[in-house]
Amino acid sequence: MAYNLLNGKRGIIFGALDENSIAWKTALKVKEEGGSFTLTNAPIAMRMGKINELAKACGAEVIAADATSEADLTQLFSKSVDVLGGKLDFVLHSIGMSPNIRKGKEYGDMNYEWFLKTLDISALSFHKVLQISEKLDAMNEWGSIVALSYIAAQRAYPDYTDMAQAKAMLESIARSYGQRYGTQKKVRVNTISQSPTKTTAGAGISGFDVFFDFADLMSPLGNASAEDCANYITVMFSDYTRMVTMQNLMHDGGFSTSGITQPLIERLSK
Ligand SMILES: NC(=O)c1ccc[n+]([C@@H]2O[C@H](COP(=O)([O-])OP(=O)(O)OC[C@H]3O[C@@H](n4cnc5c(N)ncnc54)[C@H](O)[C@@H]3O)[C@@H](O)[C@H]2O)c1
Repeated sequence: MAYNLLNGKRGIIFGALDENSIAWKTALKVKEEGGSFTLTNAPIAMRMGKINELAKACGAEVIAADATSEADLTQLFSKSVDVLGGKLDFVLHSIGMSPNIRKGKEYGDMNYEWFLKTLDISALSFHKVLQISEKLDAMNEWGSIVALSYIAAQRAYPDYTDMAQAKAMLESIARSYGQRYGTQKKVRVNTISQSPTKTTAGAGISGFDVFFDFADLMSPLGNASAEDCANYITVMFSDYTRMVTMQNLMHDGGFSTSGITQPLIERLSK
Protein backbone atom coordinates (compact mmCIF):
# COMPACT_ATOMS: atom_id res chain seq x y z
CA MET A 1 0.00 0.00 0.00
CA ALA A 2 1.38 3.42 -0.95
CA TYR A 3 0.96 6.64 1.05
CA ASN A 4 2.50 9.17 -1.37
CA LEU A 5 5.14 9.89 1.27
CA LEU A 6 7.67 11.12 -1.28
CA ASN A 7 5.46 12.88 -3.78
CA GLY A 8 7.48 15.46 -5.70
CA LYS A 9 10.76 14.53 -4.00
CA ARG A 10 13.97 13.95 -5.98
CA GLY A 11 17.09 12.02 -5.11
CA ILE A 12 19.98 9.68 -5.88
CA ILE A 13 20.13 5.97 -4.97
CA PHE A 14 23.59 4.39 -4.83
CA GLY A 15 24.31 0.65 -4.73
CA ALA A 16 21.59 -1.35 -6.51
CA LEU A 17 23.48 -4.35 -7.87
CA ASP A 18 20.75 -6.96 -8.22
CA GLU A 19 17.23 -7.67 -6.93
CA ASN A 20 18.57 -8.70 -3.50
CA SER A 21 20.31 -5.35 -2.90
CA ILE A 22 18.82 -3.15 -0.18
CA ALA A 23 19.16 -0.25 -2.65
CA TRP A 24 17.13 -2.17 -5.24
CA LYS A 25 14.22 -2.69 -2.86
CA THR A 26 14.52 0.94 -1.78
CA ALA A 27 14.31 2.19 -5.37
CA LEU A 28 11.07 0.25 -5.91
CA LYS A 29 9.58 1.54 -2.65
CA VAL A 30 10.61 5.16 -3.26
CA LYS A 31 9.10 4.97 -6.73
CA GLU A 32 5.88 3.54 -5.28
CA GLU A 33 5.77 6.45 -2.81
CA GLY A 34 6.01 9.04 -5.60
CA GLY A 35 9.74 9.91 -5.52
CA SER A 36 11.90 10.32 -8.62
CA PHE A 37 15.61 9.58 -8.68
CA THR A 38 18.73 8.66 -10.59
CA LEU A 39 20.41 5.32 -9.99
CA THR A 40 24.15 4.93 -9.71
CA ASN A 41 26.80 2.28 -9.20
CA ALA A 42 30.49 1.73 -9.90
CA PRO A 43 31.13 1.22 -13.64
CA ILE A 44 32.31 -2.37 -13.06
CA ALA A 45 29.21 -3.26 -11.01
CA MET A 46 27.01 -1.86 -13.76
CA ARG A 47 28.54 -4.31 -16.20
CA MET A 48 28.07 -7.27 -13.84
CA GLY A 49 24.76 -6.29 -12.25
CA LYS A 50 21.25 -5.71 -13.50
CA ILE A 51 20.81 -2.01 -12.80
CA ASN A 52 19.34 -1.29 -16.25
CA GLU A 53 16.48 -3.66 -15.51
CA LEU A 54 15.68 -1.69 -12.36
CA ALA A 55 16.06 1.63 -14.18
CA LYS A 56 13.46 0.54 -16.69
CA ALA A 57 11.02 -0.51 -13.97
CA CYS A 58 11.46 2.84 -12.18
CA GLY A 59 11.75 5.13 -15.20
CA ALA A 60 15.09 6.27 -13.77
CA GLU A 61 18.28 7.37 -15.50
CA VAL A 62 21.48 5.48 -14.65
CA ILE A 63 24.65 7.50 -14.11
CA ALA A 64 27.86 5.56 -13.49
CA ALA A 65 30.06 6.76 -10.64
CA ASP A 66 32.86 5.20 -8.63
CA ALA A 67 31.98 6.48 -5.16
CA THR A 68 35.68 6.97 -4.36
CA SER A 69 36.13 9.41 -7.26
CA GLU A 70 35.40 13.08 -6.54
CA ALA A 71 35.20 13.78 -10.28
CA ASP A 72 32.60 11.03 -10.80
CA LEU A 73 30.55 12.19 -7.81
CA THR A 74 30.63 15.82 -8.93
CA GLN A 75 29.34 14.80 -12.34
CA LEU A 76 26.72 12.53 -10.77
CA PHE A 77 25.29 15.27 -8.54
CA SER A 78 25.21 17.96 -11.23
CA LYS A 79 23.73 15.62 -13.81
CA SER A 80 21.10 14.35 -11.36
CA VAL A 81 19.94 17.88 -10.56
CA ASP A 82 19.64 18.55 -14.34
CA VAL A 83 17.90 15.28 -15.18
CA LEU A 84 15.44 15.49 -12.28
CA GLY A 85 14.71 19.17 -12.83
CA GLY A 86 15.78 20.63 -9.49
CA LYS A 87 17.70 20.23 -6.24
CA LEU A 88 17.57 16.94 -4.37
CA ASP A 89 15.60 15.88 -1.28
CA PHE A 90 17.16 12.47 -0.55
CA VAL A 91 20.31 10.40 -1.09
CA LEU A 92 20.86 6.74 -0.21
CA HIS A 93 24.50 5.62 0.25
CA SER A 94 24.25 1.82 0.08
CA ILE A 95 27.86 0.92 -0.59
CA GLY A 96 30.21 -1.54 1.03
CA MET A 97 33.23 -3.53 -0.09
CA SER A 98 36.33 -4.96 1.56
CA PRO A 99 39.07 -6.43 -0.65
CA ASN A 100 40.44 -8.16 2.49
CA ILE A 101 37.12 -9.94 3.06
CA ARG A 102 36.70 -10.67 -0.61
CA LYS A 103 40.14 -12.28 -0.73
CA GLY A 104 39.69 -14.21 2.52
CA LYS A 105 42.33 -12.35 4.56
CA GLU A 106 42.20 -12.92 8.33
CA TYR A 107 42.22 -10.01 10.79
CA GLY A 108 45.78 -10.86 11.85
CA ASP A 109 47.00 -10.83 8.26
CA MET A 110 45.50 -7.66 6.77
CA ASN A 111 46.79 -6.22 3.53
CA TYR A 112 46.99 -2.52 4.46
CA GLU A 113 46.56 -1.21 0.95
CA TRP A 114 43.31 -3.14 0.78
CA PHE A 115 42.40 -1.95 4.28
CA LEU A 116 42.66 1.63 3.03
CA LYS A 117 40.55 0.68 0.02
CA THR A 118 37.89 -0.73 2.36
CA LEU A 119 37.80 2.56 4.26
CA ASP A 120 37.80 4.60 1.06
CA ILE A 121 34.92 2.70 -0.59
CA SER A 122 32.80 1.95 2.46
CA ALA A 123 33.24 5.07 4.61
CA LEU A 124 35.22 7.96 3.13
CA SER A 125 32.96 7.84 0.05
CA PHE A 126 30.14 8.96 2.37
CA HIS A 127 32.11 12.08 3.33
CA LYS A 128 32.76 12.73 -0.37
CA VAL A 129 29.04 12.41 -1.14
CA LEU A 130 28.20 14.87 1.63
CA GLN A 131 30.95 17.37 0.83
CA ILE A 132 30.28 17.39 -2.90
CA SER A 133 26.53 17.75 -2.45
CA GLU A 134 27.15 20.68 -0.12
CA LYS A 135 29.71 22.37 -2.41
CA LEU A 136 27.35 22.08 -5.36
CA ASP A 137 24.44 23.23 -3.18
CA ALA A 138 22.58 20.22 -4.56
CA MET A 139 20.27 19.53 -1.57
CA ASN A 140 17.00 21.23 -0.67
CA GLU A 141 16.42 22.32 2.93
CA TRP A 142 15.10 19.45 5.07
CA GLY A 143 16.66 16.96 2.65
CA SER A 144 17.66 13.59 4.07
CA ILE A 145 20.86 11.63 3.46
CA VAL A 146 21.08 8.03 4.71
CA ALA A 147 23.91 5.47 4.72
CA LEU A 148 23.68 1.84 5.77
CA SER A 149 25.68 0.47 8.69
CA TYR A 150 26.06 -2.69 10.74
CA ILE A 151 26.35 -3.36 14.47
CA ALA A 152 29.95 -4.53 14.00
CA ALA A 153 30.72 -0.80 14.40
CA GLN A 154 30.00 -1.28 18.13
CA ARG A 155 30.65 -4.98 18.74
CA ALA A 156 33.30 -7.45 17.61
CA TYR A 157 32.46 -10.09 14.99
CA PRO A 158 35.35 -12.38 14.00
CA ASP A 159 34.77 -12.40 10.24
CA TYR A 160 33.74 -8.78 9.67
CA THR A 161 37.43 -7.71 9.92
CA ASP A 162 38.22 -4.26 8.46
CA MET A 163 34.55 -3.58 7.59
CA ALA A 164 33.99 -3.05 11.33
CA GLN A 165 36.36 -0.06 11.24
CA ALA A 166 34.72 1.19 8.03
CA LYS A 167 31.28 1.12 9.67
CA ALA A 168 32.56 2.91 12.81
CA MET A 169 33.99 5.62 10.56
CA LEU A 170 30.79 5.81 8.51
CA GLU A 171 28.68 6.39 11.63
CA SER A 172 31.14 8.99 12.89
CA ILE A 173 30.98 10.86 9.56
CA ALA A 174 27.16 10.92 9.82
CA ARG A 175 27.43 12.64 13.21
CA SER A 176 30.14 15.16 12.27
CA TYR A 177 28.73 16.05 8.85
CA GLY A 178 25.18 15.94 10.16
CA GLN A 179 26.04 18.68 12.62
CA ARG A 180 27.57 20.85 9.90
CA TYR A 181 24.89 20.21 7.27
CA GLY A 182 22.03 20.67 9.72
CA THR A 183 23.36 24.01 10.93
CA GLN A 184 24.21 25.34 7.49
CA LYS A 185 21.45 23.99 5.25
CA LYS A 186 18.94 22.12 7.40
CA VAL A 187 19.94 18.84 5.76
CA ARG A 188 19.62 15.63 7.82
CA VAL A 189 22.31 12.92 7.91
CA ASN A 190 21.78 9.50 9.51
CA THR A 191 22.94 5.90 9.33
CA ILE A 192 20.63 2.91 9.60
CA SER A 193 22.16 -0.16 11.26
CA GLN A 194 20.51 -3.07 9.49
CA SER A 195 20.12 -6.75 10.47
CA PRO A 196 22.19 -9.30 8.53
CA THR A 197 20.56 -9.51 5.10
CA LYS A 198 21.04 -12.04 2.31
CA THR A 199 22.63 -9.89 -0.41
CA THR A 200 25.86 -10.12 -2.41
CA ALA A 201 27.73 -7.99 0.18
CA GLY A 202 26.21 -9.90 3.13
CA ALA A 203 26.79 -13.39 1.79
CA GLY A 204 30.43 -12.49 1.01
CA ILE A 205 31.25 -12.64 4.73
CA SER A 206 32.38 -16.08 5.84
CA GLY A 207 30.11 -17.68 8.42
CA PHE A 208 27.28 -15.40 7.26
CA ASP A 209 24.59 -18.10 7.50
CA VAL A 210 25.48 -18.79 11.13
CA PHE A 211 25.33 -15.20 12.27
CA PHE A 212 22.20 -14.64 10.19
CA ASP A 213 20.50 -17.47 12.16
CA PHE A 214 22.01 -16.30 15.46
CA ALA A 215 20.76 -12.73 14.92
CA ASP A 216 17.35 -14.05 13.94
CA LEU A 217 17.08 -16.00 17.21
CA MET A 218 18.44 -13.04 19.22
CA SER A 219 15.89 -10.60 17.77
CA PRO A 220 12.41 -10.65 19.31
CA LEU A 221 10.96 -9.59 15.95
CA GLY A 222 13.41 -11.68 13.91
CA ASN A 223 15.87 -10.22 11.40
CA ALA A 224 14.68 -7.19 9.47
CA SER A 225 14.43 -7.99 5.76
CA ALA A 226 15.72 -5.84 2.90
CA GLU A 227 12.09 -4.83 2.19
CA ASP A 228 11.64 -3.69 5.79
CA CYS A 229 14.84 -1.70 5.48
CA ALA A 230 13.55 -0.08 2.28
CA ASN A 231 10.38 0.93 4.14
CA TYR A 232 12.41 2.50 6.96
CA ILE A 233 14.67 4.37 4.53
CA THR A 234 11.55 5.70 2.79
CA VAL A 235 10.22 7.04 6.09
CA MET A 236 13.62 8.60 6.78
CA PHE A 237 13.37 10.38 3.40
CA SER A 238 9.87 11.65 4.20
CA ASP A 239 8.79 14.81 6.02
CA TYR A 240 7.65 12.70 8.98
CA THR A 241 11.24 12.46 10.26
CA ARG A 242 12.25 16.08 9.78
CA MET A 243 13.89 16.44 13.20
CA VAL A 244 15.93 13.21 13.13
CA THR A 245 19.59 13.77 12.37
CA MET A 246 23.12 12.65 13.41
CA GLN A 247 21.75 9.29 14.55
CA ASN A 248 22.73 5.68 14.08
CA LEU A 249 19.27 4.13 13.92
CA MET A 250 18.97 0.47 14.84
CA HIS A 251 16.81 -1.46 12.39
CA ASP A 252 17.35 -4.94 13.73
CA GLY A 253 14.17 -6.44 15.22
CA GLY A 254 15.43 -5.72 18.74
CA PHE A 255 18.80 -7.50 18.40
CA SER A 256 20.96 -4.67 19.76
CA THR A 257 19.18 -4.45 23.12
CA SER A 258 18.63 -8.16 23.70
CA GLY A 259 20.84 -9.94 26.24
CA ILE A 260 19.58 -13.40 25.38
CA THR A 261 16.18 -14.55 24.14
CA GLN A 262 13.99 -17.54 24.96
CA PRO A 263 14.38 -19.10 21.48
CA LEU A 264 18.17 -18.92 21.83
CA ILE A 265 18.05 -20.44 25.33
CA GLU A 266 15.96 -23.28 23.96
CA ARG A 267 18.33 -23.80 21.03
CA LEU A 268 21.41 -23.86 23.33
CA SER A 269 19.72 -26.16 25.88
CA LYS A 270 19.36 -28.95 23.31
N1 LIG B 1 23.72 -7.43 3.75
C1 LIG B 1 23.89 -7.25 5.06
O1 LIG B 1 23.91 -8.17 5.87
C2 LIG B 1 24.05 -5.83 5.56
C3 LIG B 1 23.81 -5.56 6.93
C4 LIG B 1 24.00 -4.25 7.40
C5 LIG B 1 24.42 -3.25 6.50
N2 LIG B 1 24.63 -3.56 5.19
C6 LIG B 1 25.10 -2.49 4.29
O2 LIG B 1 24.11 -2.23 3.31
C7 LIG B 1 24.77 -1.61 2.19
C8 LIG B 1 24.27 -2.27 0.91
O3 LIG B 1 24.72 -3.59 0.82
P1 LIG B 1 23.80 -4.80 0.35
O4 LIG B 1 23.74 -5.74 1.48
O5 LIG B 1 22.56 -4.31 -0.27
O6 LIG B 1 24.74 -5.53 -0.73
P2 LIG B 1 25.02 -5.27 -2.29
O7 LIG B 1 26.23 -6.09 -2.60
O8 LIG B 1 23.80 -5.53 -3.08
O9 LIG B 1 25.38 -3.70 -2.37
C9 LIG B 1 26.68 -3.17 -2.18
C10 LIG B 1 26.88 -2.16 -3.30
O10 LIG B 1 28.10 -1.42 -3.15
C11 LIG B 1 28.50 -1.10 -4.48
N3 LIG B 1 29.88 -0.63 -4.55
C12 LIG B 1 31.01 -1.31 -4.22
N4 LIG B 1 32.09 -0.55 -4.51
C13 LIG B 1 31.63 0.62 -5.03
C14 LIG B 1 32.26 1.81 -5.50
N5 LIG B 1 33.60 1.95 -5.51
N6 LIG B 1 31.48 2.83 -5.97
C15 LIG B 1 30.12 2.71 -5.97
N7 LIG B 1 29.47 1.62 -5.52
C16 LIG B 1 30.22 0.60 -5.06
C17 LIG B 1 28.31 -2.47 -5.18
O11 LIG B 1 28.42 -2.37 -6.59
C18 LIG B 1 26.94 -2.86 -4.68
O12 LIG B 1 25.93 -2.36 -5.53
C19 LIG B 1 26.27 -1.71 2.45
O13 LIG B 1 26.73 -0.52 3.04
C20 LIG B 1 26.33 -2.84 3.47
O14 LIG B 1 27.51 -2.81 4.25
C21 LIG B 1 24.44 -4.82 4.70
